[in-house]
Amino acid sequence: MLRKRAKPVEMAANNKQQETKLAAIPVIIDTDPGQDDAFAILLALGAPDLDVLGLTTVAGNMGLEQTTDNARRIVELAGHADLPVHAGCPRPLLRAPRPVPEIHGDTGIDGWNWAPAKTGPKEGHAVDFIINTVLQSDRPVTLIALGPQTNIAMALRRAPHIAPRIARIVFMGGGFFEGGNMTPAAEYNILVDPEAARIVLGSGIPVTAVPLDCTHATPAPVNWSSKLAKYDTDVMLACAGMMEFFERYGNAKYGTKSRPLHDAVAVSALLWPELFEGRLCPVDIECSGELTTGMTVVDWLRQTGKTDNCLWLNACKNINEVYDRMEHVLRNLPYAH
Ligand code: BDR
Ligand code: CA
Repeated sequence: MLRKRAKPVEMAANNKQQETKLAAIPVIIDTDPGQDDAFAILLALGAPDLDVLGLTTVAGNMGLEQTTDNARRIVELAGHADLPVHAGCPRPLLRAPRPVPEIHGDTGIDGWNWAPAKTGPKEGHAVDFIINTVLQSDRPVTLIALGPQTNIAMALRRAPHIAPRIARIVFMGGGFFEGGNMTPAAEYNILVDPEAARIVLGSGIPVTAVPLDCTHATPAPVNWSSKLAKYDTDVMLACAGMMEFFERYGNAKYGTKSRPLHDAVAVSALLWPELFEGRLCPVDIECSGELTTGMTVVDWLRQTGKTDNCLWLNACKNINEVYDRMEHVLRNLPYAH
């Protein structure tokens, strides 16, 4: 029997899609949504330069069940219901979980009237998903860590042979010039699981850190939420609502007029490295200081003689360009309903 032939125009479109996929960077996003995680995920899903292989969730901003449900809601809103979401570790390696509803609201993604997720997470632990996906991929995979790094540290401990197959780990976390946002010394993602971050930084895998030094240098435009709301798609209305909610706590705390979307800045730095600045240097984590647990100790002046293990971003060259590009990607995401 003759197969039905694709029309030349369809074939060209399919080939183009294939080509774009092959050229795109394969990534796994490890996350604890979080409004800024939601922006980061939506940005990654909408960006043609990234091929998102799946999401893995971790306890962080909220408990694991909630962050997993949030991840499902986000992929469904973006029209990517088929994307695998795997639940991971329900608590940090050694410490107690530390949810922050005072920052993110009761759901973690407050600010929009979210439709309940239609589907639950996939069977199988996030750590297994990371290991298997990295081993099976024909291209080295980039891991994007947007929460405490528990799942990634567990994967590296359980299957150290995945390390050479990981192209890079890009994480949002830490702060050196800016200090911390949870204690004077520590930023949230590192404070929650400092041991995990130490394992990641000691893995020998190329690491890019997007700390508060970089995100605080990249605040969203003032009143960005009103601009987003004008597009009137579900994705943009959700983004506008989340942005407005997210900014309230931060502006009150810092006395600012707008806030950076930390995790979305991390994905932006992966997508558009030309818009950011930093330095390759030795970075370690303080895990036992009485006053400094969770501090990212950055050897900016290379005084320790230790090996450079981290590209530490500390500046943004063009803030407006970052948010314009973000807006362009987000507004092209399909309607989910
Ligand atoms: C980080 O902490 C979380 O609350 C945010 O989602 C982000 O990943 C900022 O310190
Ligand atoms: Ca996060």
